[in-house]
Amino acid sequence: MAFTPRTCTSYDWISRLGHWVLAALMIAMLAFGIYLDEAVPPGPERGALMGLHKSVGVAVLLLGGLRVAWRLLQGFLPEAGHAPSWQAALAKAVHYVLLAGIVVMPLSGLIGSYFGGRATSVFGLFSLPAGPKIEWLGDLAYGIHGAGAMVLIGAILLHVAGALKHHFIDRDTTLLRMVGKA
Ligand code: HEM
Ligand code: HEM
Repeated sequence: MAFTPRTCTSYDWISRLGHWVLAALMIAMLAFGIYLDEAVPPGPERGALMGLHKSVGVAVLLLGGLRVAWRLLQGFLPEAGHAPSWQAALAKAVHYVLLAGIVVMPLSGLIGSYFGGRATSVFGLFSLPAGPKIEWLGDLAYGIHGAGAMVLIGAILLHVAGALKHHFIDRDTTLLRMVGKA
């Protein structure tokens, strides 16, 4: 797909809202998933929390799908600063990893549940059906879910470090234009 750089200097409000809402949801869901995995023993409490994890995850897939489509259709803004070209290339690659993570994380969770033979209730409003139990496919999807989380956390750390570097060291408008102040 061709990405046409736009000429305006700030991200539009839909992009800014989408960025910050999905950023908060993704960081919260990563923390939630790790908490569930590490600290909640099997039992009714884990079942309830897992239900919430899955429900919010489905909401992330719907909202995130729109947010990612919007970005791919609109293209990215050209660089705001004058960082060395390897840093610009790294930042761009990280943006693609982040966009992919917004879709791959909930989708792999859903596919894992589907082939694990478990239905996914969404806030008790409706349910996505259980599929045939195919253990290796369920395990593969959960493997992607777990490994994807680690890749995404690394990408977010790099991304935030880059944003802070642009703001406090380069003193350019990279961060400001994502909060509508450029
Ligand atoms: C934004 C979306 C999501 C994020 C960021 C996310 C993140 C995580 C993380 C970090 C873990 C712990 C890591 C691990 O399993 O090794 C986890 C576990 C899990 N997630 Fe998600 N998740 C998301 C959506 C979903 C969805 C939509 C479902 C299912 C419908 C789901 C089902 C699960 C299950 C079943 C586990 C436990 C897996 C296991 O015990 O191996 N997740 N999630
Ligand atoms: C507190 C944490 C975060 C900060 C401070 C931050 C900051 C920024 C800034 C300043 C930009 C603009 C870059 C530019 O104009 O070249 C940006 C873009 C971007 N950020 Fe973040 N970000 C954060 C978290 C996240 C998270 C968690 C994700 C996704 C999981 C994410 C995904 C993206 C993407 C894909 C872009 C490219 C433009 C767009 O599609 O919105 N960010 N971020």
